[in-house]
Amino acid sequence: MTNAPDHRWLLPMADHPSGRSAMTCAYRCGNACAHPAPNTSENEYFGDIAAGQLSRRGLLRAGAVGALVAGVAGVSGGIALPAAAEEIATAGADTATGGTALSFPAVPPNKLDSVVVPNGYDHAVVIRWGDPVVPGAPKFDPHKQTVASQSKQFGYNNDYIAVIPLERSWYGGSRRALLVVNHEYTNEELMFPGVASADGTTVEQRRIAMAAHGLSVVELERVGDTGQWRPVKDGRRYNRRLTAQSVFKLTGPAAGSPLLTTAADPTGTKVLGTLNNCAGGLTPWGTTLHGEENFNQYFVNANGAPEADKPALKRYGIDIVNAIPAGNRKWHEADARFDLSQHPHEANRFGWIVELDPRDKNSTPRKRTALGRFKHEGATISLSSDGRAVAYMGDDERFDYIYKFVSDKRMRKDDHAHNLTLLDSGTLYVAKLTGDSPASEIDGTGTLPSDGAFDGLGEWIPLVRGKTSLVPGFTVDQVLVHTRLAADTVGATKMDRPEDIERNPVDGKVYVALTNNSNRGGTVPADEANPRNANKHGHILTISEHDDDAAATKFTWAVPLVAGDPADPKTYFAGYDKTKVSPISCPDNVAFDKAGNLWISTDGNQLGANDGLFAMPVSGPETGHLKQFLSVPIGAETCGPCITPDQRSVFVAVQHPGELTGASFDNPKSTWPDGNYARPSVVVTWRIAEGSKRIGA
Ligand code: FEO
Ligand code: CA
Ligand code: CA
Repeated sequence: MTNAPDHRWLLPMADHPSGRSAMTCAYRCGNACAHPAPNTSENEYFGDIAAGQLSRRGLLRAGAVGALVAGVAGVSGGIALPAAAEEIATAGADTATGGTALSFPAVPPNKLDSVVVPNGYDHAVVIRWGDPVVPGAPKFDPHKQTVASQSKQFGYNNDYIAVIPLERSWYGGSRRALLVVNHEYTNEELMFPGVASADGTTVEQRRIAMAAHGLSVVELERVGDTGQWRPVKDGRRYNRRLTAQSVFKLTGPAAGSPLLTTAADPTGTKVLGTLNNCAGGLTPWGTTLHGEENFNQYFVNANGAPEADKPALKRYGIDIVNAIPAGNRKWHEADARFDLSQHPHEANRFGWIVELDPRDKNSTPRKRTALGRFKHEGATISLSSDGRAVAYMGDDERFDYIYKFVSDKRMRKDDHAHNLTLLDSGTLYVAKLTGDSPASEIDGTGTLPSDGAFDGLGEWIPLVRGKTSLVPGFTVDQVLVHTRLAADTVGATKMDRPEDIERNPVDGKVYVALTNNSNRGGTVPADEANPRNANKHGHILTISEHDDDAAATKFTWAVPLVAGDPADPKTYFAGYDKTKVSPISCPDNVAFDKAGNLWISTDGNQLGANDGLFAMPVSGPETGHLKQFLSVPIGAETCGPCITPDQRSVFVAVQHPGELTGASFDNPKSTWPDGNYARPSVVVTWRIAEGSKRIGA
């Protein structure tokens, strides 16, 4: 049944300065924002660079997000593309109208314990935590979970979603698809009956939690001729679970480095598990990328690690003072490799971008060291003008950086083996942004400067090119393993938590979600790219690469959206009438539909309502007209938005429903989706109205 929008409001739930519940802070990122931001480098900020030094050539105004129709992001080099790329390319074809007015009625902010979609749309759960993935998985029974059962069932806290058509393209009316999903983290209090804290688990439960991390590949089938999808029964050909104990291979320039060797793996190439997979991306050659984000929280006893290792451990947010940080899951009691006093390099084997080939069930997923190591939110691929792979990446921490990787080699049509090598050699860059307005006009209130825009110029500073380090004092493997420390030395710009970064295939701009940064304006002042002190609600920044080439080393940038309550003068919706837009807070993931409209999912709404998915035209007269498309249940975050290229289905991952302080399995604060206890689940939404079946049209 369709949930009609409901205007009831309950009391605000925020009980932590970050806007998330205290429980989410503890389980998701190990209370990152309760600790000092790890970037204490004296790396400059740009606010005081004189505007007169900057060229204004090619500068774009945030208030005039133009119809910069660039054809298709970087695929214009005359190369023929495989199916996945063809679909990315075709997605940009419908640009003649210069942007689309989104017709759905906005979902109002609410505090309901359900998924709410606009009138005219329906939604359904596709798959829940505990549902079978691998054939033979036992029926879910949270009172009788075992490692063996969880290893075959859908994991916990789904985040990134890719949906890849099988057999036929989206435009051929594909009826089967692969769903690839990240399982970012576990909440033991909500998973296990009778557990009152993260470390109040048995060793067996810790192993179950490890099995609930990782990735899932699930074969789907279309339901009738609708936009609804469901898992095929006993999907044998592709279905797969990867967990914190599965085998992953390290590849690229740092593979085999002494920084990556352990007693169990003297080769420095074979890692057990992937951890805290947050966002990701679908490559034009059909693989998926998965960011390893807050990996630091799984490790203990760093106070006993070698002194020489401690500065880097600290820069990655690992507690080098307390043996067992508060709220730690104590996995080291189930697996000693999480004890850094015994295995100090084990933490270096996490924090990478993982590449998975979901069509090959027997393939070993790779951790691509050429893309650097940090708290990788995710990675999305665009192609340069000459067909090289460009990965855009955010390091999700207060005051950390935006990166990109440009491959040495070009993608080749129908040469899958070649394309699987693209992310192993290339140039890794970090972003430096400069504003074009006088620093005195950036006062931290969010008031636009006199030129009417938060905007400026930028450059990509190379850190490693091939097997050559470009950072004085750092070897190649030091740059790639300790990327944060290398970037600190080259003048990278400290950002307000860079999360998902993705290129819009229609306007060619790269959209960066900057979630929030309550510390902005403390020791690090506001600057034109991060213009609000105590930035509670976050903003969106766009990067326009020079010559529209993803491989460029220069760019211009602008801020089209400063999030928050539209009635708050500190907000900005690309100049649109703010009485007509939806409130939005804490943008996290971005996605695009066929017309190039920007879709944004949120994490930790600071305005007192549930998180949701929003859409906003970025060209034409409707530019900035942000509307809420759906909301997720109480305590949940909206993750992994995926608008299928045929624009008939929108998938979202409902992550951590009911994760509110005081909640437990036995005392749930959300009973979504089944009315008993909360289960993180993937949801699909589709249009049921008469006429066009397309979402948003
Ligand atoms: Fe897992 Fe950056 O959110
Ligand atoms: Ca400006
Ligand atoms: Ca995220």
